[in-house]
Formats: sequence, structure tokens, C-alpha cells
Amino acid sequence: MVISFVLLCLMTNNLFAKNNSSPTSSIDAKVDSVMKLMTLKEKIGQLNQYASAWEMTGPAPENANSQKELEQIKSGMVGSMLNVTGAEATRKAQKLAVENSRLHIPMVFGYDVIHGYETMFPIPLGEAASWEPDLAEKTSSIAAKEASAAGIHWTFAPMVDISRDARWGRIMEGAGEDPYLGSQFAAARVKGFQGENLSDVNTVAACAKHFAAYGFVEAGRDYNTVDISDYTLNNVVLPPFKAAVDAGVASFMNAFNLIGGVPSTMNTYLLRDILKGKWQFGGMVVSDWNSVGEMVNHGVAADKAEAAKLAIEGGCDMDMEGRCYVDHLEQLVNDGVVDEKLIDDACARVLKMKFELGLFDDPYKYSNDEREKDDIMNPENLAVARESARKSFVLLKNESDILPLKKSGLSIAVMGELAEDKDSPLGSWRAKAIKNSAVSVIEGIKNLKGQQNDIQFTEGVRLIDGEKSFRSELTFNTTDSSGFEAAREMAKKSDVVVLALGENCFQTGEGRSQTNISLKGLQKQFFDQIYKVNPNIVVVLMNGRPVVLGDIADKAKAILEVWQPGSEAGNAIAEVLFGDYAPSGKLPVSFPLVNGQEPIYYNHMSTGRAKATEDVFWSHYTDASNEPLYPFGYGLSYTKFDYSDITLNKNQIKFGEPLRASVDVKNVGDREGTEVVQLYIHDLFASAARPVKELKGFKKVTIPAGESKTVSFTLTDKDLAFYNINKEWTAEPGDFKVFVGTNSRDVKEASFKLVK
Ligand code: BGC
Repeated sequence: MVISFVLLCLMTNNLFAKNNSSPTSSIDAKVDSVMKLMTLKEKIGQLNQYASAWEMTGPAPENANSQKELEQIKSGMVGSMLNVTGAEATRKAQKLAVENSRLHIPMVFGYDVIHGYETMFPIPLGEAASWEPDLAEKTSSIAAKEASAAGIHWTFAPMVDISRDARWGRIMEGAGEDPYLGSQFAAARVKGFQGENLSDVNTVAACAKHFAAYGFVEAGRDYNTVDISDYTLNNVVLPPFKAAVDAGVASFMNAFNLIGGVPSTMNTYLLRDILKGKWQFGGMVVSDWNSVGEMVNHGVAADKAEAAKLAIEGGCDMDMEGRCYVDHLEQLVNDGVVDEKLIDDACARVLKMKFELGLFDDPYKYSNDEREKDDIMNPENLAVARESARKSFVLLKNESDILPLKKSGLSIAVMGELAEDKDSPLGSWRAKAIKNSAVSVIEGIKNLKGQQNDIQFTEGVRLIDGEKSFRSELTFNTTDSSGFEAAREMAKKSDVVVLALGENCFQTGEGRSQTNISLKGLQKQFFDQIYKVNPNIVVVLMNGRPVVLGDIADKAKAILEVWQPGSEAGNAIAEVLFGDYAPSGKLPVSFPLVNGQEPIYYNHMSTGRAKATEDVFWSHYTDASNEPLYPFGYGLSYTKFDYSDITLNKNQIKFGEPLRASVDVKNVGDREGTEVVQLYIHDLFASAARPVKELKGFKKVTIPAGESKTVSFTLTDKDLAFYNINKEWTAEPGDFKVFVGTNSRDVKEASFKLVK
């Protein structure tokens, strides 16, 4: 029976008109009506996702696999593709499925739009340093607008993995180490990507990933094992995922890792008990790239057939590039090994997302050549890229107020490979960013309006030898110091040296773990050489993870952390260096003093021996401090803020009653500044020990010079709740401390009680 696409739509629309009033139930009814027409094989097809193996605008390659895949698309056996991009290519691919398959069901096109499609915004870790979730909502909505104009329906973002280990290269993709900040950014990014209505052509379905605990890989090595307690899983890892669900996220992605020996991909506790059970998530779950197939390598499934069985039973709805579902599920159902109801549920979830996206109304509506020309990389998008970059910068040091630099009368030497790098600012996971399309540091300084200093540039130190790409390993320059001499001469004659140090963009991202996060190559040696002839060094630190700075942190006059700030990098950096904008970012992740401190994070537990004693028998290192170089939440401004003591409206609250904590923050400098006022708590005694500090609120306030603002926070027992020893989310009565301050270390303190 061949049913035309139009007829199918009419049938589903009629059903809607007759039986339902709410959009969700109408979509459920439409899904049901389509499912009734589907064979088992076709349902399994919907659970199968392939990556584009050929250019859709050109001929398919000759190899047999691709020919087979082409035939599978035509016969409705491919529910989704990833990495097909562009209006024309997506239209062509869609046509293959819609015009040839029996039921004409459209495919859904996914892509990793992580921090922009072609216009690049700061890497997510950098953007989190803005402590401005609304900004992330704005940049995600622009990324969605660009991607959807190029035929993309679904982004594999946001990555909401909490990570405490800067050795892990994928730390750049998330919002850092804190579950509260991470939750705010998770929700904002979901809202930004998905907008008001998924069926709007300028929105895309979001995907909360990687479920779960991928950021806790042992020793920071990507894809490695995770062994995490249920307590930490629930209190630290899961909150941003829950926030994504509450924000209406359409999909989830599994993680590559095992947790306690069980692959996330087949983890019924995560997927069925928590996600689809307790949280009642109605969307779909996609595996990570071949994570179903990799269950064989993990040593859990004997072959791909068993992997398919375990994953579908576990709650994984779609198999990305694993070919386990498409090759084995039909047989498994026919043999009575897998219950067909599981296939039905997974298929219904996939179809639901397609209905929500409006693909059944018009499968080509996102592939729009006009929009592709107008909506991508336009001046408005670039303006937001610049704004988001500026807001992501964190001023780590500013001795003698060397920053901001004057706009005239100075001779400034700009140095370092990264200062002229037009590619690293784009970061890793850069979707369709055009190679070398970012504004470099040196270009930005030269572009800056009103900047009349004498600006000289020399590379001085080369960071990378050879290829720099997403797929290959980098080779660091550890031998060639031939640029040092000229740089030294230039530094001698200059008032100030602006030295760009840090990481190439392909030092972080997937598969980019490091055991040593100190500055690579000859950067440290180069710094020392320049320092000998001119100590007025302003370091522009461009990196995708926290780095170990060693004595550069003591010697440099100023350090401006800029992360990988995206397309408008250099312009934004220059605007901040020369004072058009004051930095206001705060670290979303701790910067260690030395490598061996990793993983290091502010919200740790107290040990039984936390206090320093005169002997050695307390919890410490004998060769380094326990403290990070820069703590979570840290960041300076071009002005200074004084905090009053905390005023509490009561010293005791009952469940359901609000507690108000207020401080007066005074701008004691001589220019306007923006401060992120942070509130932390400590639950002193609980059924299971609580962290020494936990972020529970923050407010970003702009205060004119000399003025004060009262900043207030409201806390209730809900903010004090945690996953306790009885596995319940609840607050426990008792004594609490509340802290308010400029970062997680420098805080004012007060106490209160929670009573029944
Ligand atoms: C990554 C995912 C990504 C997927 C598709 C995997 O290797 O872990 O984050 O979405 O590839 O590109």
C-alpha cells in the first residue's frame, strides 16, 4: 500500500481535529496513527541514524556500504542522519527518504552545533564565565537560527556534563564544575535552541548530553571508565540534566562511559528509572557515536546483536552509527528475544520529535536557500558574538592597574603565535566555522577605534609544528627558539608587551586529554626571556581548559583569560584591553596551582583532618598547597567592590518559609563596573556530609563609581535540599552557614537554622 505524504498528513491532521485539544495529545494521536501503518522493519528504521558518508550534492561514492545505505534511506530504514548540512544537501537527502519510502516519513537531520553554526560564539566553558544564562540563551538562539537555515533540525547540544578535571579535553564543551551554574546554563541553552515552539523554522531540537557522568572519566582520560557514587551522581552530575528536562529539552544523548561496570547506553537506572521514570521525560534518547556497538568492547555484550538487545531494553531509542539496531532488532523481535513494545515506544518517541519539528507538515521547510544566504554570519549575529566574547573574559590579575591600556602614547609589542592565530579563537567543535575566519588579537588591536599607540608584532614563539586539525594529534614546538631574539629586542624598546599564551584550539575537545596542563612547548621559556628585558607583560590567555601557569602568575603584570572567544575574538579582546569595556567574567572552574591537584573543585567535602596541624597528619600535600591558584567564581574588574556584612531577615526558618540574605556592594573605584555577587551555603551536619560550600544563587549587577547597591537573595528549604542518605531529595533540619562574596573563597558569612 503506497500512501502519499499529503494523504498521510491529512489523516493525521483529521485525527487531531476529531479527538484532541492539547498539542501534546494531538501529537501523540498523530504518532499513533502513523505507527499503525508501520511494519516492524519500518519502525526499526526510525531508530537508525547514519552519518553522511557522501556529499549529498554530488554522487554517492561507489563503495558497497554507501550504496547499501542509500537504498536503506530510500526504503525508510534510516530515521535520521547527522552531518548532512546546507539547504541544498539536506533537501536532496530528504527527498530520497520522502519520495522513495513506502510511508514517506521524513528524516531528522542532526549536527553538533555546540557554540555556533558558522558565526562562532565563545566555547561553552568561556560563555559560562559570563555568569549570564540569558546571554547563552541568546547565542544558542542565533546558532539555532543559522543551523536551521541550513536544513538542520536538531543540535547535539547542550553538553551539560559537570567536570572537575581539567585534564579532560571536553571540559571546554560544558559549563564547568558547579551543578547550580551548570543547571542555569543547561536550561538557558535549551530555551535558546528550541525557542517558544519547536516547529518554528528558526529553532532546532536540543539534546542534553552525555547521560551521564562522562565528565568524571578516571584520570581525565577521554572515554575512560567512570566509577561514581549514587550520591555524587544525583547531587552533582544529574541536576543540569534535570534542568534541561524542566526546560523542555526534546532529546538526550547517552555517554560513552561505563558507570560501575554498566555502559550508560544500556543503563536502565539512568534511562528508565530516572529519566523516563522519575522525571517523566517524553522525548527521545540517542546513543553516542557507536556507543551501542562499543558495548562489545566494554565487555558487556558478546556481539552487536546482544548490544542491540541490551541498549533497547536499557532505554536507548536511537542507534547513532552503530548499525546494531538496523541489523539485528528485527530478528531479535521475531525470535521473541526483544519485546516489540520496546520498539514501539522508541519509535513513537522519534516520530514525536519529528511531528514537533513540523517535519510531517513540510519535510523541506528548514532547507531554505534564501534564509541560508541572509541568516548566517550576518552583522547582527557577529555583534552578539562580540558581546558574548567580551562578557566571557575573566581578569585574573591586574597589578598596578596596568590594564586598561591607554589608547595613545604607548609603544606596545604584541607577541605569541596565538596573537596572530585566526583559527584557535574559533575553538574546538566549531560546526561550519570557516577556517581562519576569526579576528586575531593583533587585528583586533589594530582595528580598535581611537587606538593610536605604536603597535609592533612578532610571533616570538611558535606553539605548534605541522598540522592543526580536528582529527589529528598536534605536535608542539619544543626546540625552535629562533624567534626569541627579535622578540627580546622588540620588548626592550616597548612600554608594554601583550603576550598571547595558552592552547591551540585542538588541544581541547573530544579525544584531547592531557596529563599535564601546564603551558605547552616553549611558551614558559619565552615568557621568561621577555620578562628579563621587560616585566610589563600583559598575558592574554587563550585556552579551552584551566591551565597551570607556574610563576607566570606571579611575574605577569596582568592576565586576561579570554578562552577561545569565537569569530569576533580580537575585536572583543582589544575593547577590553584598552578599556572600552571592563571585564566582568568569573571562573566557572577552578584553576589549579599544580597539575597534581587535579581534579580540584571548590565544592568538596571536609575531610576528618581538614585543619592544618604542626605535624604531618592532616589532609594535605607535602609539596604544594591544597588551594587552587584561582578559585571557582574568581574574577577581577577595572574597579573594586566592597562587601558589607550579610543581613539576614531571620536566624531561623521553617520548611516553606523564605530567608532573605542581603549585602550592600559598593563600587569603591573610579569607574563603573559589573560584579557577579555570589551566594553559597554550607549544611553543617547532614545524614550524608555536604560540601564545604555550594553555590545557590548569583546576581550580576552594574554599579556606577562610588555608588552602592543592595543585593538580596531568597532561600527556602528547596534550595537546601539534596539527595540524602535515604535517596530522597529533601532538606534536613539543622544549622547552616550562608556566604556571600565576590568568589567562592572571599566571602562574608552568617548562620541560620532550618527547623521543622
Ligand atoms: C560525541 C558526541 C557527538 C557525536 C556526533 C561523538 O563522538 O561524543 O558529543 O554529538 O559524536 O558527532
